[in-house]
Amino acid sequence: MVRTRSQDAPDRPARDVRLAVETAVWAPSVHNTQPWAFAVSGSRISLRADADRRLAVADPAGREMLISCGAALFTLRIAIRALGFEPEVSVLPDPDRPHLLADVRLGARVSGDDQAPRLYDAVRRRRTHRGAFRAAEIRPSLPDALKLEAEQEGARLIRAVEEHTQQALAGLTQAAGHLQRLDPAYAAEEARWAPRPGSRRTDGVHETAYPGSPPHTHPDFPGRDFARGHGWGVHDGPETEGPPLVTGLVMLVTTPADTPRDWIRAGQALQRMLLRATVEEELAAAFHTQALEVPELREFIRARFCNGQYPQMLLRLGVPEGPELTTVRRPVDEVITWEPEPIPGT
Ligand SMILES: Cc1cc2nc3c(=O)[nH]c(=O)nc-3n(C[C@H](O)[C@H](O)[C@H](O)COP(=O)(O)O)c2cc1C
Repeated sequence: MVRTRSQDAPDRPARDVRLAVETAVWAPSVHNTQPWAFAVSGSRISLRADADRRLAVADPAGREMLISCGAALFTLRIAIRALGFEPEVSVLPDPDRPHLLADVRLGARVSGDDQAPRLYDAVRRRRTHRGAFRAAEIRPSLPDALKLEAEQEGARLIRAVEEHTQQALAGLTQAAGHLQRLDPAYAAEEARWAPRPGSRRTDGVHETAYPGSPPHTHPDFPGRDFARGHGWGVHDGPETEGPPLVTGLVMLVTTPADTPRDWIRAGQALQRMLLRATVEEELAAAFHTQALEVPELREFIRARFCNGQYPQMLLRLGVPEGPELTTVRRPVDEVITWEPEPIPGT
């Protein structure tokens, strides 16, 4: 067995750093690609994008890859804070190394932050939902609270309240799905991240992560075809007359510009509001980013529904209903490398 530096020297910073990374990997990522790598030197963690895991067809610019890494960055910050340190973050610290997304240091000791431990506890409870939501009451002030969370990270959360806007977004999602199915390269790429049942892979969207037959709602946002037409997925017991099911709150995460820095911001804002929604009311999100991968449809959504801001994520939020879903992650030793600490004065 390869002994990691942390096992050889389980000193406090190494243990804290490892714990923080172990938490960060539970961030959401497009197709569960987990497109990140963490290089540790002393109490500094460098977050890098792992470009081999970018979706070359669906995400040629790496926008969704950086949103995913941004979500991991926010999770890292929360973990560091919950461990009792101020996270000192420098985003895109080196223009010559565009894949180096952030340097994060465990800074001064902090105490008395009761938000961070609650958000930290929610990291592993948060799950992507794929299906309808229960028609439960959501506290009316929650959407505004979530908007504030997104704004704290320099992004915006726009809620589509009008039924016609929701219908239009659902229709665009459906159109995107059809266009993508016409493209064999796109379909092949999606299939590569949808392992067969029983696969031991620790990435991708497994059949345990989506329902076998998701109920329809009105408006109806189609999911991605991770089952590849095989009927895979978690099947609930026999259909019974249950409570009415709903679409949930329909929301767009947007940014003022569309640079890598904005994508990282959008990811941090996304994870911040998802964790807050988990903590406050155990809400879960269903993502529908298909239309944002088709440039013409993304531009249409930007111009019509985002006040000129750039749409980064389209999601629904609500109280999950249906079978228990589970997801996987790569072991932390696959994503972490331990680098020697620089010798002072050299
Ligand atoms: C940028 C981005 C785009 C995503 N798009 C979709 C999507 O269109 N459909 C979907 O079902 N899940 C989508 N997801 C959710 C991921 O599939 C999910 O985070 C991943 O499978 C890990 O599962 P977990 O969130 O339950 O931990 C997206 C996530 C991110 C960060």
